[in-house]
Amino acid sequence: MNLNKIAYTALVAFGAAIATLVISHGLSGTRAGATEPPRAAPISREELARHNSRDSCWKAIDGKVYDITAYIPDHPSREEVVLAWCGKDASEGWHNKRPGVAHSGAASRLLSGYLIGELEDAAPPPPAAPARASPAAAAGRPDGRLLLGLAPGTYLDGRYRGSFLDRGEMQVGMQFDLRDGRLTALEYRHLAYGGIDYLTLAEDAPLYPVTRQYRQVADYLTGKPLHQIVDLYQPEQVVTDLDGYTGASLRTSKVISAIRDGLNRGVYQWPKE
Ligand code: HEM
Repeated sequence: MNLNKIAYTALVAFGAAIATLVISHGLSGTRAGATEPPRAAPISREELARHNSRDSCWKAIDGKVYDITAYIPDHPSREEVVLAWCGKDASEGWHNKRPGVAHSGAASRLLSGYLIGELEDAAPPPPAAPARASPAAAAGRPDGRLLLGLAPGTYLDGRYRGSFLDRGEMQVGMQFDLRDGRLTALEYRHLAYGGIDYLTLAEDAPLYPVTRQYRQVADYLTGKPLHQIVDLYQPEQVVTDLDGYTGASLRTSKVISAIRDGLNRGVYQWPKE
């Protein structure tokens, strides 16, 4: 090999080394700049346990791990309630924000935004809890299906909107989804009585307990088979804090009426998927 050939080979090797360096630097720069996607590798229980404070709060829920640090100040309960589950398997707390009452569909959608990965060696998620015995059945009244004439499959899956009006005033306007005969995504689009808009009341307003109770009604119905709307005829089974219960303004039967109005109107929007 003559001198020229040696110099040429060395130059090519040097160029290739520089190119490799530039490319790998460029790639690592790109990765650091991107938003961190959920991790591919499972998160160990030891690592989960290290994130057990307000400064870094991870929770495992049904085998998935969420970093909810940023959400803590916005959570609607007292802070201690959510902090107590940081660094732990919080499935129990998540499915029982109050005994027997799970978080709403809206809360689940919010939660999914905080997903960071899967929990290592997670037990398979528990089967969906069986619906609690209906208060109507417990009180010896006819089953809701008979009372309302609802046979399974009578109403198609989809989004519904309905309202309750009385003496010219719209009092309850609701939107809800039916999925496999179960109610989900219940939302109040309108909640008023005697000229007061209950959806805009501040939490310290004297009448706010009424708003909260209506929300408890929606939470209660979330995930229930449609015919269990008749449970609302016994509001004491559904709503806590009956002291704040103000006669005519909260009548759970208005919610039954608004839901049935929606069903009578038919599907407002077909399911997206
Ligand atoms: C796992 C521990 C948790 C416990 C014990 C807990 C408990 C509670 C309590 C006591 C309430 C207020 C009472 C009520 O609405 O009836 C509440 C409401 C709520 N929580 Fe949590 N929570 C937990 C975690 C979370 C997480 C991780 C999120 C979301 C990232 C969340 C989102 C919400 C939302 C949006 C509400 C309003 C009502 C609803 O949509 O269900 N919570 N929770």
